[in-house]
Amino acid sequence: MTEKKALLTVPGREPIELPIRSGTLGQDVIDVGGLGSFDYFTFDPGFTSTASCESKITYIDGDQGILLHRGYPIEELAENSDYLETCYLLLNGDLPNAMQKKEFENIITTHTMVNRSIEQFMSGFRYDAHPMAMMCGAVGAMSSFYHDSLDITDPHHRMITAHRLIAKMPTLAAMCYKHYAGQPYMYPRNNLGYAENFLNMMFGTPCETRDVNPVLAKAMDLLFLLHADHEQNASTSTVRLAGSSGANPFSCIAAGIAALWGPSHGGANQAVLEMLNEIGDVKNIDSFVKRAKDKNDPFRLMGFGHRVYKNFDPRAKVMKQACDSVLAELGIDNDPLLKIAKRLEQIALEDDYFVSKKLYPNVDFYSGIIMKAIGIPTEMFTVIFATGRTVGWIAHWSEMISNSYKIGRPRQLYTGEQRRSIVPIKKRK
Ligand code: CMC
Repeated sequence: MTEKKALLTVPGREPIELPIRSGTLGQDVIDVGGLGSFDYFTFDPGFTSTASCESKITYIDGDQGILLHRGYPIEELAENSDYLETCYLLLNGDLPNAMQKKEFENIITTHTMVNRSIEQFMSGFRYDAHPMAMMCGAVGAMSSFYHDSLDITDPHHRMITAHRLIAKMPTLAAMCYKHYAGQPYMYPRNNLGYAENFLNMMFGTPCETRDVNPVLAKAMDLLFLLHADHEQNASTSTVRLAGSSGANPFSCIAAGIAALWGPSHGGANQAVLEMLNEIGDVKNIDSFVKRAKDKNDPFRLMGFGHRVYKNFDPRAKVMKQACDSVLAELGIDNDPLLKIAKRLEQIALEDDYFVSKKLYPNVDFYSGIIMKAIGIPTEMFTVIFATGRTVGWIAHWSEMISNSYKIGRPRQLYTGEQRRSIVPIKKRK
């Protein structure tokens, strides 16, 4: 087969040939890697048309609303799999058989405890610290506790680190909440499943043993699963960029947590609930929608729109169904925020502005409503996203490190001052 090439025509010089590469699915890419030798760079702030790497982990078709992990549609994973199985899939490339699944669950369960000194580290945060600030600090600090597995060139070390991160994130997340709530930290329990254990560490106290509602545990597991990976989003790209310098994986994940915190990314789930509270009543929706459409007003409808999806986010569809079953289980059918959310969704789906710009509800629109129903405080929403996303971050980091890679070092279009000389201070105006 002849290799496809793109021809770049630049005035005053011979056309430049650029190879076109094809993946197994999705758009072809024009490989501009050699363009620097012709004294040109490409310019694409926000990476709106740039593939930053090659990956085999996750595929998204934003126009069709398709999300595949290692080839499996997210809807099928949500229906027939669970979070830990999906973690195994993302890390290893295929679903586990029964024995591999049991072994993996056992490894994760037996790594959930954190070093005792981390409790003291956590207690050092101000009483009202935002849990994402604590998470960022705590995960970064993990490299000082688990430096026995930091040789990034050793596949075994990389795998131990992946297991440690997946196992310990719920423990750290629950510790953040307990610190915030002023309650004693709860230790993990090895007889509980991943999500059940997390809910027990969140809501249990040493004073009494309470069973975790299985419907809520299932919803929690689904929340983790739906957040597990989303190819080269801002936080995953941050993890890859940090990792490309050879930095240790804990600090790379801490960088990912920092990127996730922003309201345009994972912080949107907290922002959605805050927005619904601010709207306060169905009768106020119209004025907020009007503001969202006003070019001179920075206000945006949080939980709507996506860089890649120009169709319904498939995760949002699953999340919506889960939302209905959790609310039914808890007998919540007249929650005022839910009423606002449902009406807002309806208006936005019919409004010309949102329809023409293809702004559909995204995953963060419904996840906050489920988390609120489970009893999770708003400030913890993005921490839960980070907990679920950890496997995606580490799978991408691992994929990069186990293949050949270069330090990520973008170039720029410089628009500052040209070269000039220093004027002695006495002569400056
Ligand atoms: N409300 C009102 N207008 C919007 C919204 C919104 N939520 N989102 C985009 N627009 C408009 C925007 O003003 C722009 O209009 P115009 O073309 O007239 O300038 C157009 O739609 C395209 O928006 P953009 O900002 O250029 O698109 P983007 O791909 O850079 O941004 C986004 C994507 C997700 C940051 C954006 O849609 C947004 O800010 N949404 C609200 C925050 C949110 O829900 N984020 C969660 C994303 S999904 C989960 C995750 O990644 O963590």
